[in-house]
Amino acid sequence: MKVLVATEKPFAKAAVQGIRSIVENAGHTLLLLEKYTTSEELYAAVKDADALIVRSDKVSKEVVEASEKLKIVVRAGAGYDNLDLAACTEKGVVAMNTPGQNSNAVAELAIGMMIYVSRNCFTPGTGSELKDKTIGIHAYGNVGRLVAKLAKGFEMNIIAFDPFVDVDKVKKEGVTPVSTIEELYEKSDFLSLHIPANAQTKGSVGYDLITRLPKGGCLVNTARKEVINEPELLKALEERCDIKYVTDIAADNQQILNEKFGNRVFASPKKMGAETAEANINAGLAAANQIIKFFETGDKTFQVNK
Ligand code: 3PG
Repeated sequence: MKVLVATEKPFAKAAVQGIRSIVENAGHTLLLLEKYTTSEELYAAVKDADALIVRSDKVSKEVVEASEKLKIVVRAGAGYDNLDLAACTEKGVVAMNTPGQNSNAVAELAIGMMIYVSRNCFTPGTGSELKDKTIGIHAYGNVGRLVAKLAKGFEMNIIAFDPFVDVDKVKKEGVTPVSTIEELYEKSDFLSLHIPANAQTKGSVGYDLITRLPKGGCLVNTARKEVINEPELLKALEERCDIKYVTDIAADNQQILNEKFGNRVFASPKKMGAETAEANINAGLAAANQIIKFFETGDKTFQVNK
């Protein structure tokens, strides 16, 4: 079988070596397409592949249709909003993610961004500390839980909102669950977003929620830009001169935000959340192992297009 790794933003070298070993030791062939710049390159590469490993690369209907033998696609990472699940299902392609494998990298970055913005983006002037501030975790999944764990070390008060997670589980981890999303935003000096981008969440964080943040509140986005209602974010930042927005995924109107709000906003030049050697190795190797197991036993754990 041919396993294609197609990454516009390549994995760390050690991750590629590890993926290669797993694939070749199982008797398969690794195909590598890195730093491609056009969809056509991906269409051509996927044509002959039986399995595909990607990061945030778009696996559109066109990509799925360009493949002639594809049986499985694994998004090495958590969010699978880049996969056209309907197209995969239609063509009988199993789609998977590798949940939890890169969460620590994202959680560390969320804390790092909070420190960065609290210290005026490292420009001279008096900043503030995380200690004793309240952090609100919006969605208590793999990343949210780790952010909470790290925040404990900074002696922050930790609250969380996640209607899909049992409150007793949240409490057991020393985190206070709140019962409404509004309450979460009203109480959070730092609001850390960990919701996926899907039909329910896209554009769901807008003016109403953002302006509920207390004085000096900061919205921290290491999730997806699509969950933010950008025109409403702009309005909120204009009206509330105390609010800050830091994001790992630049907004479409980021240049306007930067020009208008200076050190009250910050965006990474390119998404950095899972950009560590450790995260690449964990997620990349997990993806390769999931593919081999699927080929050998038909195992579909982590399938997301059921
Ligand atoms: C994820 O959903 O796993 C993260 O956003 C990582 O994305 P990346 O592989 O593009 O860095």
